[in-house]
Amino acid sequence: MIVCRDACFTLHTAHTSYQLCADEQGRLLHTYYGARLPDDAPNLRPTRAPHAEAGRRLNLLPFECSAPGTGDFRTPAVLPEYADGSLCADLQMVGAQVTPGKYELPGLPAFRGAEQTLCVTLRDCAGLEVELRYAVFPQHDVITRAAVYRNTGAAPLSLRKASSLCLDFDTRPLDMITLHGKWSQERTPERAPLRYGVQSVGSMQGVSSHAHNPAVALCRPDADEEHGDCWGFALVYSGNFLCEAERSESGNRLVMGIHPHQFCWTLAPGESFVAPEVAMVYAADGLGGMRRCFHRAIRAHLLPERWRDMNRPRPVLLNSWEACYFRFDQDRLLALAEAAARAGIDLFVLDDGWFKGRDADNSSLGDWVADVRKLPEGLEGLCRRLQALGLDFGLWIEPEAVSPDSDLFRLHPDWALRVPGRTPLTLRNQYVLDFSRPEVVQALWEQLHRLLSSCPIRYIKWDMNRKLSDVYSAALPADRQGEVYHRYMLGVYALQKQLTEAFPDLLLENCAAGGGRFDCGMLCYSPQIWCSDNTDARSRLSIQYGTSLFYPPCTMGSHFSIVPNHYTGRTASVEARMACALFGTFGFELDLTGYSPEALAELRPYIDWYRAHGALLRGGDLYWLLPPDAAGSGAAWMVVSPDRDEAAVFAVGDALCGVERASTLPSPPPRLPLRGLCAQSVYEDADGVRYAGAQLLAAGLPLPTPRGDVPAYLCYLRRTADPRTTA
Ligand code: GLA
Repeated sequence: MIVCRDACFTLHTAHTSYQLCADEQGRLLHTYYGARLPDDAPNLRPTRAPHAEAGRRLNLLPFECSAPGTGDFRTPAVLPEYADGSLCADLQMVGAQVTPGKYELPGLPAFRGAEQTLCVTLRDCAGLEVELRYAVFPQHDVITRAAVYRNTGAAPLSLRKASSLCLDFDTRPLDMITLHGKWSQERTPERAPLRYGVQSVGSMQGVSSHAHNPAVALCRPDADEEHGDCWGFALVYSGNFLCEAERSESGNRLVMGIHPHQFCWTLAPGESFVAPEVAMVYAADGLGGMRRCFHRAIRAHLLPERWRDMNRPRPVLLNSWEACYFRFDQDRLLALAEAAARAGIDLFVLDDGWFKGRDADNSSLGDWVADVRKLPEGLEGLCRRLQALGLDFGLWIEPEAVSPDSDLFRLHPDWALRVPGRTPLTLRNQYVLDFSRPEVVQALWEQLHRLLSSCPIRYIKWDMNRKLSDVYSAALPADRQGEVYHRYMLGVYALQKQLTEAFPDLLLENCAAGGGRFDCGMLCYSPQIWCSDNTDARSRLSIQYGTSLFYPPCTMGSHFSIVPNHYTGRTASVEARMACALFGTFGFELDLTGYSPEALAELRPYIDWYRAHGALLRGGDLYWLLPPDAAGSGAAWMVVSPDRDEAAVFAVGDALCGVERASTLPSPPPRLPLRGLCAQSVYEDADGVRYAGAQLLAAGLPLPTPRGDVPAYLCYLRRTADPRTTA
């Protein structure tokens, strides 16, 4: 619900309220974001310093859109450069409007299906107009905010920075939590108090990156997993981003949006620039409360329509990468597929190496036709044979890349990003196609369309294996080169949109050298993203834990793989590897051809378990009972269905030893206190043992004695109508 009174606005969700208000000079101020207020709560305007002169006061005010050069000396949200060379703005509200439904952001990914939109228009006297757009998702306690920058002047103006969000908090201390990482160790949470000055995370890699994720949380120093005030911000964008948190005498400010590095967007009179949106959550019940709000909202409002229903099964897939890498032919693939079919797998995904001349990572990207040496019957023939085995077919592609050794590059050398007069950098022996050019995107579309029309391909893994360098487009003049990074992203989004609209049944999984582009932008087109190339169970505990600070488990590509693990050389029990794979989309990534019929049969119960409880795992509320420690030696978590009728509990590694993590011989057997269940109900496990909900919450679920290398325990609980307990 959005309430407007005079020049004041309150955006209400079920449990939160967000307030903004224009002052006498028309400056739009942020006045509150926190727990739900009464419907008609007035806006508390900032109190004035009694003797401050007007100029100094601006630096104390909480702005909804901070601008430079006119008295606010903190981090600006926008940097306009007018034709006369001036670099300042003083934005004043000129109008506001509430409309039903959600605002549109042409060309950009966005949450859908909001209840209401508030648009507030601000204008600077030299012609820059900023339209701040807010949408309210009451049920999920999410508010999205985007900004549209318009030139209403008579001369061109350039945007050197055009952020999506500016949010001012009061002076009380805050911690910031960011997700940093690298290849094979993505999204490690780091928490630190905001210091005086500016702290920032961002990406200048052209992709949102392994290094930092475009989602951050601010929280009170005493907030933990289950208690305390937390605010979360997830940018719905997959390219360069910057998130700046500034602590000053005036309070704490957060500014978030596209990175100003090599960004400059020229607006002719009348033209606009649309900045991506940020999804915001406030939760009073700690980081757990915050993450569950994001999870619910992403599932219900961001994922592609077709995949939003968590009861819709996702296929259990086997990916050929760790089984074969580049070394395969049709016979080898079919042997693998036969084993997959025997284990009960649904979908066979042919990873890298299937296209013309691709025997290593040094050629052929861009030539998306089957290599007849390896696949004499083409993709069509392979697909037919897979179907005969009862398997669906999925395929790996990397549409944004081109190898110097490829027909595509030989034909169109100017289609790769390169700076005139310089030799472009190769990373993983490849260049990046200039997706800022519509004709390049169109050419890729034609190739993909041909490919997907050639046989029933049910699934695509869209990879992107390098950072962008040499970012310069042969198609744009010198003074428009600051637009290339963003136009590139618009090209990627346009192609993913076109692909998923033309093939509505296609399941698209994004990937970027593992999890290098795991963000809300990608989730708008693909309901799942490959979380990391590291499939080691213990590594996955911490990667999936960090990722789950914002992103729901049903979006995390997670596969069962072999031991010793190909990336880490470590071992873990079958149960532990299964528990980590069951956390997310659940698939397999290993060579099953050497498995005996008995060994294949051992995998089956887990697949059956996923089929039986997949809707719970995908659509339930996640509770971390014991977060993984830095060494990844164990963790425990559970998923509870929204109606609290069902739950799945997982304990891995040292978590099985209870609170005494270090002990390997617990005595007495440890218990794991659960969360999220109904205290008044009775729950029954798969063996028919009954527990009172209150008992599970307070005393805990008894765990078995741990045995072997990284042991694990999985338990399914169902609420029973019979109130008698047995435990
Ligand atoms: C990337 C992906 C892997 C695999 C390889 C293929 O590294 O993350 O899963 O697809 O590319 O080259």
